[in-house]
Amino acid sequence: MRLQGKIAIITGAADGIGRGAAIKFAKEGADSLLVDINEAGLKETAAAVAKLGRKATILVQDVAAPDAAERIVKRAIADFGRLDILVNNAGISTGGFFTDIPPETLDRVIAVNLIAPFLISQAAARHWLATKTVGRIVSTSSINAETVQGNSTAYCASKGGVRTFTRGAAVDLGPHQITVNAVGPGHTITGMTRKHMGTQWELDGIERAALKRLGTPEDIANAMAFLASDEASYITGQTIYVEGGRTIQPPITPP
Ligand SMILES: NC(=O)c1ccc[n+]([C@@H]2O[C@H](COP(=O)([O-])OP(=O)(O)OC[C@H]3O[C@@H](n4cnc5c(N)ncnc54)[C@H](O)[C@@H]3O)[C@@H](O)[C@H]2O)c1
Repeated sequence: MRLQGKIAIITGAADGIGRGAAIKFAKEGADSLLVDINEAGLKETAAAVAKLGRKATILVQDVAAPDAAERIVKRAIADFGRLDILVNNAGISTGGFFTDIPPETLDRVIAVNLIAPFLISQAAARHWLATKTVGRIVSTSSINAETVQGNSTAYCASKGGVRTFTRGAAVDLGPHQITVNAVGPGHTITGMTRKHMGTQWELDGIERAALKRLGTPEDIANAMAFLASDEASYITGQTIYVEGGRTIQPPITPP
């Protein structure tokens, strides 16, 4: 119960890693505001949290909409009276050869994956600074902040941005004992990647991971819960890659 009595905001909580985080946080004793654009999925996640004896309220909200950041933080405080943890996890993936990526696609992936976590973190931090309380921010970056593949430059740029804003915010907020970290998942089985199952993506993900399997939402949520806990109070500005050893070896091992 390392999150006993804590209040968390979890974005992208209707599916995949966000749902895994909501369930893990509930098991560790936290209540949560769950945010997503998928209302049906949010209700399913909230029901799973309720089964564990914890409270979850839901907010159907596009994280990239104007004023979303203030609305999300205000709603958590209205629902629970306090805020301890922000999990910036909502995200989208995009493909496309570099020169074919339209500006509107670039705008959207940067808005959802980078600007929204940045703005929601600002809103949460303003609350913590104003109330002289301590908070923890955990964002979802990706192994693509470190290692890239073709046809995903916009996505990689957004996730590299998450890794870097995490460092900058950690420096500014550190003197106030507010920690800012990220997790960087490898190939993980979620709503985002379900369509790739049975393709080369799945085979590569297994073969190129030292642990010879894909990740699960639980694998990522375990790291999020640790970074959100008091046990991680001396860790800040870090991106922890939860990827089964996917990035530690080159693609082709010499004989
Ligand atoms: N699955 C992987 O292999 C993998 C690897 C690295 C990083 N990630 C990152 O993990 C995070 C979670 O993704 P996932 O794999 O669980 O995918 P997912 O599609 O299962 O979950 C993402 C959730 O975010 C929500 N969402 C999307 N856009 C939104 C918006 N504008 N406002 C509010 N909610 C929105 C979706 O409705 C969905 O419920 C993302 O940031 C993703 O980039 C995933």
